[in-house]
Amino acid sequence: MTTDVLQIELRKAERSRLQEVDFNHLPFGKHFSDHMFVADFVDGQWLNQMIVPFDNFTLSPALSSLHYGQSIFEGMKAFKNDAGEVLLFRPHANFERMNESARRMCMATLPEEVFIGGLEALLRVDADWVPDTPDSSLYIRPYMFGTDTFLGVAPSKTYRFCIFTCPVGAYYTNPPKLKVETEYIRSAPGGVGYAKCAGNYAGSMYPTLMAQQQGYDQLIWTDAREHKYIEESGTMNIMFFMDGKLITPATSDSILKGVTRDTIIQIARSWGIPVEERLVSIDEVINGIETGRLTEAFGAGTAVVVSPYSLIGYNGKDYMLPEFSPEDSFAVRVKNYLTDLRTGKIADEFGWIQTV
Ligand code: COI
Repeated sequence: MTTDVLQIELRKAERSRLQEVDFNHLPFGKHFSDHMFVADFVDGQWLNQMIVPFDNFTLSPALSSLHYGQSIFEGMKAFKNDAGEVLLFRPHANFERMNESARRMCMATLPEEVFIGGLEALLRVDADWVPDTPDSSLYIRPYMFGTDTFLGVAPSKTYRFCIFTCPVGAYYTNPPKLKVETEYIRSAPGGVGYAKCAGNYAGSMYPTLMAQQQGYDQLIWTDAREHKYIEESGTMNIMFFMDGKLITPATSDSILKGVTRDTIIQIARSWGIPVEERLVSIDEVINGIETGRLTEAFGAGTAVVVSPYSLIGYNGKDYMLPEFSPEDSFAVRVKNYLTDLRTGKIADEFGWIQTV
């Protein structure tokens, strides 16, 4: 069977696993929908576009990306409106960022027909997997890796692109505790920090584990030269509300250009809230907490959405973030607005929603 819009072969799962999932208690990233979209880059062309049952790949032990790390991914979400239609949020922003990552990692880029066309076709097949329960969504994981079989450091000539999806609940179930990292680095100027490549996450795991053993949930990465300025958190960009302004580190080649980060900035500006994208030093943040000028610190990302922090640890000392009432909180207000926007409850003034 072939879908009518694109030449995508469809092989349906013999049996759906939908009934095995409790949509009222969704963990993050543990349940996978019935199907996945797959395409292969061979001889300079994207071929073999297929929607097939979610299943294992058979891979060569000499697969180049397992050895030399040409592997990139994206994170996106789909929602349902009250009419039961599937809504995608800013899919072109992820499509463009995926290709930015591909260029940096010397990989094939994706045409819009394959990324967006494949995604839409997959969502039509697995529409029943998009949750409509509170605080849940369908998390979408597009990714690509080199498939040449060789040993030797050189770009792969062939690639596999795949999209699979998972119905998810909250990424953090409690407000996370963040530790400012002043020994290890996530990325450096001229490096690959802005690319959504697998290695950035691998390199963060050891320092994060060390921090978790000290009771923290995540790290705040600092600049590679001085450990003085805040970069990002790996799972999220970082934002502060201070002196009535939204303040966040300006993106650079060592910080991921978060789609949620950009979304929140645009929403804040539309509300008349001053936004500053600039260098943000740890000293400024600690001073802001101590003087009461900094009222909120939170993470912004596709997976975490908007996650207010409970404390920030720096140089062996923990700084509690102030308690806030939901009515006065910027983070709560923007999160609620974003939820309403993405589930079609309010008008989409920004043109961000795409109905599948
Ligand atoms: C996302 O926010 O989509 C990410 O890729 C980060 C990861 C923590 C799931």
